[in-house]
Amino acid sequence: MTPFATARSVHLVARPHGAPTPGDFAIVEEELRVPGPGEITVRNVAMSVDPYMRGRMDDRKSYVPPFELNKPMDGGAVGEVIAVGPDVELPVGAMVLHGLGWRDHAVLPARSAQIIDTDLAPATAYLGVLGMTGLTAFGGLTESASFKEGDAVFVSGAAGAVGSLVGQLAKARGAARVIGSAGSAEKVRYLVDELGFDAAFNYKDGPIAEQLAQAAPDGIDVYFDNVGGEHLEAAIGTLNVGGRIAVCGAISQYNSTVPAVGPRNMWLVVASQLRIQGFLVRNFPHLKGQFAQEVGGYLKSGQVQYRETFVDGGVDSAVDALLQMMDGKNIGKMVVRF
Ligand SMILES: NC(=O)c1ccc[n+]([C@@H]2O[C@H](COP(=O)([O-])OP(=O)(O)OC[C@H]3O[C@@H](n4cnc5c(N)ncnc54)[C@H](OP(=O)(O)O)[C@@H]3O)[C@@H](O)[C@H]2O)c1
Repeated sequence: MTPFATARSVHLVARPHGAPTPGDFAIVEEELRVPGPGEITVRNVAMSVDPYMRGRMDDRKSYVPPFELNKPMDGGAVGEVIAVGPDVELPVGAMVLHGLGWRDHAVLPARSAQIIDTDLAPATAYLGVLGMTGLTAFGGLTESASFKEGDAVFVSGAAGAVGSLVGQLAKARGAARVIGSAGSAEKVRYLVDELGFDAAFNYKDGPIAEQLAQAAPDGIDVYFDNVGGEHLEAAIGTLNVGGRIAVCGAISQYNSTVPAVGPRNMWLVVASQLRIQGFLVRNFPHLKGQFAQEVGGYLKSGQVQYRETFVDGGVDSAVDALLQMMDGKNIGKMVVRF
């Protein structure tokens, strides 16, 4: 028996044109069923809002299916097991990471939940630095960009969840120079003064190619792309011969209603013999152990720090948190607390 009779969840009720608006979503209260054999009931304590969720609001074929209209949305969440069905070994009271965010309570198969160690790190860290975003940064930098000691690295979206870890990992692994771009003076200060980036600039302050050339007088060897468009073009123009681009995302285009700005200097890919590698975090299951050990070690030693931007209010605040994150209001991982 679960002690809760109803659960509240966020539904997508209209597909956004351009930036999503609150009217594209509705909060719906539904009966919470009792967990069946092999199932658990989780009371969510925090959930993630991520840029890829914007793509899932569109009805188009992609690497992850679109959100269905008038059904609860889903995504990463952490919560406490409050009830278990027959044949479940997971204890009531365990904290778990699972995929049914956007709701205050969830009933799901025990096998699709992963126990998290909250003595090692707060539960919310498993949505960010120790979770999907952390592995994205680690795999993208080490494998997709083939980072090596002595590389000069440029990362866009540098004050965000993925970007802030990419820059710090590159530093910890012996980068010659780490440069970041972000969308405010406060974020630029954070990158240089707190995270130890060698240089950073506000991409809203002027042409990105000019600002990047100034920040990287000897060029760059790796570009970790979170943004696309003008950033990508600037990086192609700055990369040294044999340079590598890991394409992680293109957030400048997710809300776009007009054709995206493409890099107009693709011929330099030939001239400078560049490699462009797109990737998905799901490409890196084999790196999970190494990632947890290495990033866990850097966190302990203080070589890597992480920030979270919290929005309180659970399902009532989740849409607002997503819109704020897309608008750059977060430093580090954007997390919704219940
Ligand atoms: N390939 C994968 O498997 C994978 C997995 C996870 C994430 N990603 C991608 O990684 C990127 C970062 O994700 P995240 O979760 O770490 O998010 P995040 O960086 O923590 O948050 C998104 C940030 O994007 C920036 N942004 C928004 N609009 C922009 C624009 N027009 N131009 C430049 N920057 C803009 C904002 O910062 P500013 O204030 O700096 O503008 C905002 O804070 C996204 O592109 C995401 O899709 C890919």
